[in-house]
Amino acid sequence: MDAIFQRRSIRKFKDEPINEEQLKTLLKAAMAAPNAFESNEWEFVVVQSEEGKKKIIAAQPYARAAENAAAIIIVCGNTKLERIEPVLVQNCCAAIENILICATALNLGSLWLGVGGETITKLRQAFGIPEYVLPVGMVAVGHAAQVKPAHDRYFAEKVHFERFSRSATSLT
Ligand SMILES: Cc1cc2nc3c(=O)[nH]c(=O)nc-3n(C[C@H](O)[C@H](O)[C@H](O)COP(=O)(O)O)c2cc1C
Repeated sequence: MDAIFQRRSIRKFKDEPINEEQLKTLLKAAMAAPNAFESNEWEFVVVQSEEGKKKIIAAQPYARAAENAAAIIIVCGNTKLERIEPVLVQNCCAAIENILICATALNLGSLWLGVGGETITKLRQAFGIPEYVLPVGMVAVGHAAQVKPAHDRYFAEKVHFERFSRSATSLT
């Protein structure tokens, strides 16, 4: 539970690698996520080289914060294993969230980086990702060089009992 509430987007990383065990734990957490029909359709491209990170930053205009991350994991869905794109995307997002929570539990910083439009094409070109594999999102991970407090984003008005309504009456 702590890891869920402590997780924050980290945009400053120490210039320090993560070890193989940490990386494997993150990937195991990703693959432990729920996925429809248990298709296990996800594919993970792990980028640790400076050259690779530069390519990601060139492909995604809001990824600059990841330049000192120890690794960036490109989370992709394999359309040969899951043909329904919304399902594929949901599976991959579950995997991404598991990586973020696991990183927090390992005392590592992490950042979700969105992927869409031209970034998909650029990532495919840069990392040899075939057409049938769709990059869905990326996670930058490393040793945090900033501390961010947990925030409370619970808003009772976001909860609707039985019917969508503007006024929540409980769970205040
Ligand atoms: C789908 C998605 C895409 C995101 N893309 C980026 C991104 O490209 N660059 C970035 O710095 N943060 C990105 N974020 C992180 C959000 O900006 C962040 O979660 C939000 O500001 C809330 O802060 P918190 O994660 O610390 O709670 C993304 C988050 C999500 C869920």
